[in-house]
Amino acid sequence: MSAFRDDGAAALEWAAAYLERVRELPVLSQVEPGAIRAALPERAPDAPEPFEAVLRDLDEVLLPGLTHWQSPRYFAYFATTGSEPGILAELLAATLNQVGILWRTSPALQELEEVTLGWLAELLGLPEGLHGHIEDTASTGLVTALAAARAAAPGKRVVVCSEHTHSSTAKAARLLELELRAVPGDDDFSMRLDGIDLTDACAVVATIGTTSSAAIDPVPALADRCAVAGAWLHVDAAYAGSAAVCPELRPLFAGWERADSIGVNPHKWLFTPMDCSAFWSCRPDDLRNAFSLVPEYLRASEDVVSLSEYSVPLGRRFRALKLWAVLRCYGREGLQETIREHLRLAALFEGWVREEPGWEVCAPRHFSLVCFRMDGSDEQNEALLERVNATGEAFLSHARLGGRFVLRLAIGNARTAEDDVRVAWDVLRREARA
Ligand SMILES: Cc1ncc(COP(=O)(O)O)c(C=O)c1O
Repeated sequence: MSAFRDDGAAALEWAAAYLERVRELPVLSQVEPGAIRAALPERAPDAPEPFEAVLRDLDEVLLPGLTHWQSPRYFAYFATTGSEPGILAELLAATLNQVGILWRTSPALQELEEVTLGWLAELLGLPEGLHGHIEDTASTGLVTALAAARAAAPGKRVVVCSEHTHSSTAKAARLLELELRAVPGDDDFSMRLDGIDLTDACAVVATIGTTSSAAIDPVPALADRCAVAGAWLHVDAAYAGSAAVCPELRPLFAGWERADSIGVNPHKWLFTPMDCSAFWSCRPDDLRNAFSLVPEYLRASEDVVSLSEYSVPLGRRFRALKLWAVLRCYGREGLQETIREHLRLAALFEGWVREEPGWEVCAPRHFSLVCFRMDGSDEQNEALLERVNATGEAFLSHARLGGRFVLRLAIGNARTAEDDVRVAWDVLRREARA
């Protein structure tokens, strides 16, 4: 145990020092493919090594091969935060090593998961009484939703979504042998309603906060149509859902309370370390109908439905511990304050782009994502993005909107300050002039 204490202290010191210096590290890893593999031994050691050797190689071998998602200058895809309470809770979850296959194998794991998802639903303004559980990712949540939808509507095999829906919907449909029907988006990249036919649809996936531009699909109208057609409505709010903690943003979420299922990723914009994807449904019986399979060895005398009966995995990690820790240590006010600051920074950046001759904002901004480009060809914008990312000073990503290549700056790291956004803008303009 004394080695565990000493190694633990060293690991925690490493973690604290890393978070203090991460702003100075190149955000996007600058290594060539294969470089990290080449620096690692070909075989595991025969003799035991001390843990300090692992920490040493973390610094000397692995660090150059890390893209720093914890950097305040990480603006690519959707920026995330492994916050301090979440990090510590992960350590405790690994220490406890709970395996939630049945309620009795960890009553605290299951009941904390249910309670924490109830808390989060309340924080986001969702209705009371929803079934909630945690999935590893939103992609798995899509499989859960579409499998339940398929089982609930025998004979119907079509999933309707928009051309801007995240590819996880297409992947889930493919796995479940459902036919995907992606309808066009409008000028604001929101799903168009004209021409939607739900006659043979078992499900509709609507997105609040699409991946490319954070567009919002017309959820109330889709809920009306799903109700008439008997189709399952899944609302994918993987990124933007966390913003509903701010009551002034709730109008953007209109209609999601009528969904059959909803996915929100606390590991995206709610300061919870990867992985933690919240899944709610008002139709738990349909989930059980699709997923419940209890072999003899898992039969138990207590009258409790285990969470494994609502989705794919049998064994579940104690993910609720980190979400619970984050919700407690931030509190409603801390979550609101951080998200509002991100919205302020995104608005500031958007303003700089708008005011700068030769640059343009390319999509309406609802949340903390700004889509923009400089005047010039797609190739010039793509080359600009490559140059900016190669500096290591900031990391941005891209999307294709209306056939054009656009740059995306997504704010979502709790440590991002105005200066970091300013650095990104300075680098963009400097590299555009180069
Ligand atoms: C809107 C949306 N849905 C789903 C996903 C997939 O998320 P995950 O990585 O949790 O599967 C993403 C990822 O960025 C997303 O933006």
